[in-house]
Amino acid sequence: MPESSVLVTGANGCIGSWVLKHALDRGWRAVVLDLADAPTRPRLLLDDDALATIDWRQGDVADTETVRHAVIDAGVEAVVHLGALQVPFCKADPVAGARVNVVGTANVMEAVREAGVKRFALASSIAALGSAAPGNPYLGTLYGAYKAANEEMARVYWQDWEVPSVVIRPGVVYGVGRDQGMTSAPTKAMLAATAGRAYTIPFGGRAAFLYAGDVADAFLTAVSQDREGAHIFDLNGDDHAVDEVVNLVRAAVPGAEVSSEGAELPFPPDVSDTPIRDFLGDFDHTPIADGVSETVDRFRTLLERGILDMTQLER
Ligand SMILES: NC(=O)c1ccc[n+]([C@@H]2O[C@H](COP(=O)([O-])OP(=O)(O)OC[C@H]3O[C@@H](n4cnc5c(N)ncnc54)[C@H](O)[C@@H]3O)[C@@H](O)[C@H]2O)c1
Repeated sequence: MPESSVLVTGANGCIGSWVLKHALDRGWRAVVLDLADAPTRPRLLLDDDALATIDWRQGDVADTETVRHAVIDAGVEAVVHLGALQVPFCKADPVAGARVNVVGTANVMEAVREAGVKRFALASSIAALGSAAPGNPYLGTLYGAYKAANEEMARVYWQDWEVPSVVIRPGVVYGVGRDQGMTSAPTKAMLAATAGRAYTIPFGGRAAFLYAGDVADAFLTAVSQDREGAHIFDLNGDDHAVDEVVNLVRAAVPGAEVSSEGAELPFPPDVSDTPIRDFLGDFDHTPIADGVSETVDRFRTLLERGILDMTQLER
């Protein structure tokens, strides 16, 4: 008998793939709801035997009945809701962004309420906090507005129906599977270096570096026991100079032609992780040097197997 069971929405994404890996490593049964019909990113972390154990359901979180069936039929103890459209996709199609990110989350919350799930975690973002520049109220994103709405929904679901939740706002995530969006550049630098290609990270200064495996462990720790209340936490990782990371990549791949240039990212690099660590207790913390060398090692193996989509370096 599996020790526990979890349904993960958006599990073909970077964070979701790591959540699946950590769930299976813990001996949990895993059920997926994702638009994707095949586990392209989880395949980067899991072998065929492990993938075969996953109950993979293709479906849209914006569809109420699909979500209801997935959560209720799956009979899971825990739900981790990650399925979402990222910043540029929400900007390009605001209605689609609202459907997936807000209606999709309402669907998951309703299903969690109906199923009586007491172990529920979902991803928000630092973008929910809006402006990064003090005094400028206009630097928000639709993505952030949708995430802020989700945070408030989570609070109301506890207030009105005692549906418990742990909302986590991951910062800048790196690791295998991180292949889209501006903050994927450090991971792409690791991949480019491993593949013998040149790459320039388009930002400099300092940034937070959060290993994808650590985020996954935080989500699973959040749903490893029944909870009470609606909790919201930042998850930042560690504050480093981008050049320090460039140097770690060069150390892991001697001769690597990687560099960084440009302005600092518009996110604070040093948000405190103390509240989430105090609440959850022990979960993984991978120092940047270990995270870079593990990522490069994984990329070496994946390049040998020929299953990496190298067009990501041009995106
Ligand atoms: N990666 C980061 O740095 C970061 C930072 C802050 C917050 N987040 C949040 O964490 C969560 C996971 O992020 P990620 O980087 O793994 O994202 P990702 O873009 O890599 O993956 C998102 C997944 O959601 C799925 N999806 C999209 N629309 C869907 C729909 N309508 N129905 C079902 N599935 C759908 C996609 O197929 C994909 O597998 C998201 O909610 C994201 O907003 C990520």
